[in-house]
Amino acid sequence: MTSLNDIRSTFLSYFEKNGHEVVDSSPLVPRNDPTLMFTNSGMVQFKNLFTGLERRDYVRATTSQKCVRAGGKHNDLDNVGYTARHHTFFEMLGNFSFGDYFKNEAIPYAWNLLTQDFGIDKSRLLTTIYHTDDEAFEIWKKVGVPEDRIIRIATSDNFWQMGPTGPCGPCTEIFYDHGDHIWGGPPGSAEEDGDRFIEIWNVVFMQNEQFEDGSMRALDMQSIDTGMGLERIGALLQGKHDNYDTDTMRALIEASAHATSTDPDGEGNVHHRVIADHLRSTAFLIAEGVLPSNEGRGYVLRRIMRRAMRHAHLLGAKDPVMHRLVAELVRQMGDHYPELGRGKALIEETLKAEESRFKATLDRGLSLLDEAVADLPEGEKMPGETAFKLYDTYGFPLDLTEDALREKGIKVDLAGFNEAMDAQKAKARAAWSGSGEAKDAEVWFEIAEAHGATEFLGYETEKAEGQVLAIVEDGKLTNAVSAGQTAWIVTNQTPFYGESGGQVGDTGWFRSIEDHDIHGSVSDTQRFAGGRVFAHRVTPEAGTLKKGAPVRLEVDHNRRTAIRANHSATHLLHEALRQALGEHVAQRGSLNAPDRLRFDFSHQKALSGDELRQVEDEVNAFIRQNTPVETRIMTPDDARAIGAQALFGEKYGDEVRVVSMGRAETGKGLDGDTWSIELCGGTHVSRTGDIGLCVVLGDSASSAGVRRIEALTGDAALRHLGEQDLRVREVAGVLKAQPSEVAERVKALQAERKALAAEVADLRRQLAMAGGGSGQSAPEAETVNGMAFHAQVLSGVSGKDLPPLIDEHKARLGSGVVLLMADAGGKAAVAVGVTDDLTGKVSAVDVLRAAVVELGGKGGGGRPDMAQGGGASVANADAAIAAARQALGG
Ligand code: ALA
Repeated sequence: MTSLNDIRSTFLSYFEKNGHEVVDSSPLVPRNDPTLMFTNSGMVQFKNLFTGLERRDYVRATTSQKCVRAGGKHNDLDNVGYTARHHTFFEMLGNFSFGDYFKNEAIPYAWNLLTQDFGIDKSRLLTTIYHTDDEAFEIWKKVGVPEDRIIRIATSDNFWQMGPTGPCGPCTEIFYDHGDHIWGGPPGSAEEDGDRFIEIWNVVFMQNEQFEDGSMRALDMQSIDTGMGLERIGALLQGKHDNYDTDTMRALIEASAHATSTDPDGEGNVHHRVIADHLRSTAFLIAEGVLPSNEGRGYVLRRIMRRAMRHAHLLGAKDPVMHRLVAELVRQMGDHYPELGRGKALIEETLKAEESRFKATLDRGLSLLDEAVADLPEGEKMPGETAFKLYDTYGFPLDLTEDALREKGIKVDLAGFNEAMDAQKAKARAAWSGSGEAKDAEVWFEIAEAHGATEFLGYETEKAEGQVLAIVEDGKLTNAVSAGQTAWIVTNQTPFYGESGGQVGDTGWFRSIEDHDIHGSVSDTQRFAGGRVFAHRVTPEAGTLKKGAPVRLEVDHNRRTAIRANHSATHLLHEALRQALGEHVAQRGSLNAPDRLRFDFSHQKALSGDELRQVEDEVNAFIRQNTPVETRIMTPDDARAIGAQALFGEKYGDEVRVVSMGRAETGKGLDGDTWSIELCGGTHVSRTGDIGLCVVLGDSASSAGVRRIEALTGDAALRHLGEQDLRVREVAGVLKAQPSEVAERVKALQAERKALAAEVADLRRQLAMAGGGSGQSAPEAETVNGMAFHAQVLSGVSGKDLPPLIDEHKARLGSGVVLLMADAGGKAAVAVGVTDDLTGKVSAVDVLRAAVVELGGKGGGGRPDMAQGGGASVANADAAIAAARQALGG
């Protein structure tokens, strides 16, 4: 038997042999299409190559593309499990030509692969073409298909479009006749919906582009886009009629039967089919970073997961089952899709958490559902209000309720459901418009209500396309923003991180997809309406950006890389501080900017040099450990149970994002060996080694009982160390010493300087006593009013040298008054001394004040025996001495 894996590789190598580049499947969350929820065909990643917007270094490609059809235009969710060929997840095999070969080669390529390499019986194949495509008709005839097996179809079945806009064209489809034991007719016939004739391959002749206004233009080049479902061709080649009987699907069905101890076939078969299909879409989406949530893609994922979980429940599973099937899926598909193996733990945990959570309300929800329909008269619908209650209170997505009722042949009153939903929205609106705080933010709530939450793609990618849903200028909605103006724009999805949790908002660039001349910068990204709406602060450099335009958004990669490193280092730092200082350390604030990080935490004392060093060393040890940073979604309780640090007083929803990093015996984490576990919505490095290096700049007081540490990482840390080193080398050069000797040498110089300063002061004093630096000895004292009075002007002496000189003169005189004035750096320093025997007669303060006024000063002070003051200059020293004499009564 040929396995699906073999068929995939045969397909890819067939086209590789024929000059095609084997290209990896693109992600399920499209990066290059703002309107598409999930990648739903092989051509999505090549869309811009068909229109000529983008060029690559190959013109032929072949892929096996992961596709999800659940939600959006192509939605197969409701049919999964009940039909032979519907899947939410499937692989599309395709070959592509970008302006290279066209119909003449594409048709023989397909025909030869099917009839030669795959060995399919020619007589069972038939084809359809677009009714006017005579060229395709001739080519089919030439390869050997009888005319009566080439069917002209006039409908859109043979004109392929990926969506309302974009590249499109007529197509030709290849059908396989499974034989007359199955009911059905050829395409175009009344019985075409039967299962006998199955389409296996669609070959699209891309030659047009469809625009929003309904117009269509011919593309400059003619291209090929083909799609063949791997599961369908697999069923055919494996001699089966049902995709679920192929090897991979069967292995998953058996794993499901084993996990639930039930029979894979028989009554339970439909449940196993749903589980097998949903396991695949779930696992691939989680591996790509989509996680269950209540909006957007995350909600589609949750719907798929819960749907599968109800089917597991119907099989009698008491405990979560889905996560136990992941290993088999990795065995089946992990070789070709290594992301499954890499994401295994995350997929298992996410499934387990979701299933445990949902089980808590599933039973009660199902009994409510049973009660609600027990007495329902024939043909009546289930009241919409009950379906809404199931949704709102019991976590039953609407399609799960519909699926549950399908077995009973009952439908839901959808109008009633929508009414109940609208009533709830109105209540929410009343709450935000009534609260004063939300007044100026109303515009953001309006946007959130009209468009839902912005989908953040920035954990996975830094570039993506988004559609402009709203433009806000000066707090008001507007329709456009032109070059030179600045406004906020909201897109349906974005790779830009909106500021929150201490991490600053991203900056970068935007460019209109339809008109490349409209472009500009994004200077900030913020979140509004309770965090649901991300708004980009844009300034177009050229052109006018209008509401509705699809734009390419690109985050400034270098800046974001630096922010990531700082954010992850903050987590390592937080834990290192807890370990070094104690459990009381709790985060009080943080800043994760591109150039630095700041972390505020509760702690009473300044950190010692040793503590800072220990913390820095520890952070760097975990950086060098270079272990992966892991992200999970959990309930807040589960997160706390594994030791996650949560912000005190912060309100968390039903689910939290948990970021873990570092390996050490801590008793924390699922295996007890995780160093840091925090609830965090930020963007992080993928391995701790990406932080590069962390340098702690220091610690300071932030507020009472809160310390603040600032640090640098990566390039900034390296540059900081480099600059410091440079300065030390400069100093070493000046000192003519080695850098390692600088500290000792500076210490020695300081001691030397201190000794010299003391020596200089002593010499000055001696000099002053000996004649005031004038080279003369001190003049004799005169007698004023019966008292000895010595007055002198000194140079080279500072104010603080005066008191000891006063004392020396007082001692010399035995009894008398001393006035000393010094020229201290262009100013006058003045001191007056009175020996104790005379203080009853005259006060040093009075004499000083009299003298100081003459020197242009304003008073001074001290005691009766000693006073000090200052003046503007000693130029009027004689007048000051005269004033002093007068004050003495002379
Ligand atoms: N893009 C084409 C399809 O999805 C081949 O059918």
